[in-house]
Amino acid sequence: MSAVAESNVVGNSGCGFAEYPIFRKARPDRTVEDILADIQHAADLPLAQGIPLPAEAYTTEAFYNWEVENVLRAEWLCLAHRSQIPNPGDFLNIDILGEPLIVVHGKDGQIRVLSRVCPHRAMDIMPPGFGYDGHGPADAREGGAGCGHTRLFLCPYHHWSFELDGSLKACPEMQNAEGFRRDDYALTTFRSELWNGFIFVNLDGKAGSLEANMTDLTSDLAGWDMSKMKVVIEREWDCPFNWKVLIENFMEPYHHLGAHCRTLQPLMPAKDTWTSGERAHSIRVNTPLKEAALSEMRQQYADGTTEGFPLIPTLPPEHQVQWSAYLSYPTFLLFGGPDRMIWYRLDPITTDRSRLITTTLVNEEALAAPDFEKRKAAAEKMMIDFHLEDMEVCTAVQRGFYSTGYRRGRLSHLEMPIWLIERYLAARSRNTWPTYDRPAAPSQR
Ligand code: FES
Ligand SMILES: [Fe+2]
Repeated sequence: MSAVAESNVVGNSGCGFAEYPIFRKARPDRTVEDILADIQHAADLPLAQGIPLPAEAYTTEAFYNWEVENVLRAEWLCLAHRSQIPNPGDFLNIDILGEPLIVVHGKDGQIRVLSRVCPHRAMDIMPPGFGYDGHGPADAREGGAGCGHTRLFLCPYHHWSFELDGSLKACPEMQNAEGFRRDDYALTTFRSELWNGFIFVNLDGKAGSLEANMTDLTSDLAGWDMSKMKVVIEREWDCPFNWKVLIENFMEPYHHLGAHCRTLQPLMPAKDTWTSGERAHSIRVNTPLKEAALSEMRQQYADGTTEGFPLIPTLPPEHQVQWSAYLSYPTFLLFGGPDRMIWYRLDPITTDRSRLITTTLVNEEALAAPDFEKRKAAAEKMMIDFHLEDMEVCTAVQRGFYSTGYRRGRLSHLEMPIWLIERYLAARSRNTWPTYDRPAAPSQR
């Protein structure tokens, strides 16, 4: 298993799951209007009559482009957690939806999301490979590709330099350019907001406030106090499937029965899971720990044999006996347990390709534990093991969507999140959000 895990880390060539070719043209494209009408129809069915999204929603380039404009660029996307850039001058280079970005901790303490595209002649001011040949004054920093520390940004093409707030600091040999004013040539700042330590960007600049979107998750997740947590595990995966394949897979617990029959199903059986009532901006799925698993866990904590992190004492009782999965539309994914928070950062790239960064956050107490490294290694192994199971099914499902042999199925009640995602997409096509113009679907409990 671990050999396969290594092959999925970006930087190593080849993905073990991508060996089967995709024949993209087997299924003909449909028009965007046609696909949206189909999604609206599926969203209007009651869950008991529910059907999955049409295959073309995962295979049609024009539909992907519709999603980029109306969903992905129009909503809040999570880029980073503050613990990844703790000090002034720390920055992260992140490319998302074709935008090369810098997430930077400014000298004034402000976190900003800047474009990496130079306003002179469009050079990427820190092209990939940064750190190998020294891009100006920036130093590479521990934490992975694109992680750095600097006092200013320097475009390697003609050496224009920029302050950490994006303003143009200096530009050589521009004294003969008539009417040229340095103030007019800052790096573009994208709209960003912080929530619980997580840094979000809204690329089209027109979304409502992030805080308002997060009202439900703020109360669901208060016990973890995530603003004080730190990202301690990070792994990047090259995913040969559409972004919705991943969010659907992350959110529906029905597949514990099959894909995770040896890992998650014995701990969190599918039949015990339930989905909270419909919300405008998020989904919450509850995956209770089986009684036997719970008593074993308690015993291991009592006798000191646990491989888990210290239990989080501020969690309310319900979160001490279950894990819960959250999607804040469109791509922010969390899976919280009694001792940690798992966060997936998902970057859609094309119709059938995405980049995924799987991370784990823990609190100060976990970091201070003497055997932290051992617990971290166990947590990393667990995450890889069950994510490999997800990679396999997601990769095969994308291939299935291209096949003309696929007949659209039906949904189990345990797949309520799939139906809620359809209702979200349908609402976006009506230029609104779920529950705004339709009654909210009730909780399964
Ligand atoms: S393109 Fe950046 S300085 Fe010329
Ligand atoms: Fe899964």
